[in-house]
Amino acid sequence: MIYLDNAATTYPKPEVVYESIMDCMKNYGANPGRAGHRLAMRAAREIYDTRENIAKLFNVDNPMNIILTTSATDSLNLAIKGCVQKGDHIITTSIEHNSVIRPIKSLEKYGIENTIVRCDKEGFLNTEDLKKAIKPNTKLIVTTHASNVCGTLVDIEEVGNIAKESNILYMIDASQTAGVYNIDVNKINVDMIAAAGHKGLMGPQGTGILYIREGISLEVLKEGGTGSRSEDLFQPELSPDKYESGTHNTPGIAGLNAGVKFILEQGIENIKKKEEKLCEYMLKELDKVPNIIIYGPKDSTKKTAVIPINIGDMDSGEVTYLLDEEYDIATRSGIHCSPLAHQTLGTLEQGCVRFSLGLFNTKEEIDKTIEALKEISLQNL
Ligand SMILES: Cc1ncc(COP(=O)(O)O)c(C=O)c1O
Repeated sequence: MIYLDNAATTYPKPEVVYESIMDCMKNYGANPGRAGHRLAMRAAREIYDTRENIAKLFNVDNPMNIILTTSATDSLNLAIKGCVQKGDHIITTSIEHNSVIRPIKSLEKYGIENTIVRCDKEGFLNTEDLKKAIKPNTKLIVTTHASNVCGTLVDIEEVGNIAKESNILYMIDASQTAGVYNIDVNKINVDMIAAAGHKGLMGPQGTGILYIREGISLEVLKEGGTGSRSEDLFQPELSPDKYESGTHNTPGIAGLNAGVKFILEQGIENIKKKEEKLCEYMLKELDKVPNIIIYGPKDSTKKTAVIPINIGDMDSGEVTYLLDEEYDIATRSGIHCSPLAHQTLGTLEQGCVRFSLGLFNTKEEIDKTIEALKEISLQNL
């Protein structure tokens, strides 16, 4: 199989990820932080080590400001709902995933308003429009780092500066970029970063992360056992315990740790370069497919390795089905949990076929995919 659905979940993972999960399950499967025996301590050490490695990746000084969650969705809900109150205003963009849009829209019923700044037809955010959307009660700006539909990158440095000038919190949804693009919290102004663990960070599903800048305290969505201050009937205030009630997904976190260590060893810049090159190659080759429509930027330095296409007016689901059934190529069609992004690109009706490339894809796989697309296109002219 040729796997080109890495924007949904990266696959395969580095071998060390599988090994770490199995090692945890078999050799130290105790409950971390809930007892003082050696196995529980070993599990707790793995969790701390994971925070340290994630902190290294984002240049975060204090690993205790890295919260381990179950998904990007979990992180985004905690951050968005935890930092606003009635009367506040949130700004976001029209290329966000539903994991950003839905929590924000749900807050309307509690008197928290929002503005969704429209991006251009290639998914680029005009920061002048963002500035115009700021109101006296704007509390939070949330933008993705890159669209999961067209890969378009947001200038997070500039948005961070705008937020800082107006004393507004800024959160990045780095689900599509964490582990591939460098984000240094000491160089850009960002208050929170949410990301999935199972995409560029190479961990298994059921993992996610949230960085919260020192000094920010969020309202929690869930309370419960933390293994700490057990005599207290109220949730502890200390991070990360405050945000991590319930037994951790230790095997998943061990896998995530192995994934992050792998990225640190490979070098994030090398990973980005490889994906960028593959994307550039595929964009060039796609031009040879009859009747092809490519959406979003054509410059691989302005986007992640995600390429949305259609073949004429063919149903995007049918193209994906044919690629899977007849050519063993995995892609994703439809709306990709981002209806506003599709509205922005003009593909809400037809949807599109999304090719999302990963570190382990090869030029040969791209060549086979282009041949398959040529055949499908010619058969449906
Ligand atoms: C940009 C973006 N944000 C959020 C998410 C949600 O991630 P998860 O499914 O891990 O909650 C995704 C997943 O596709 C995404 O691409």
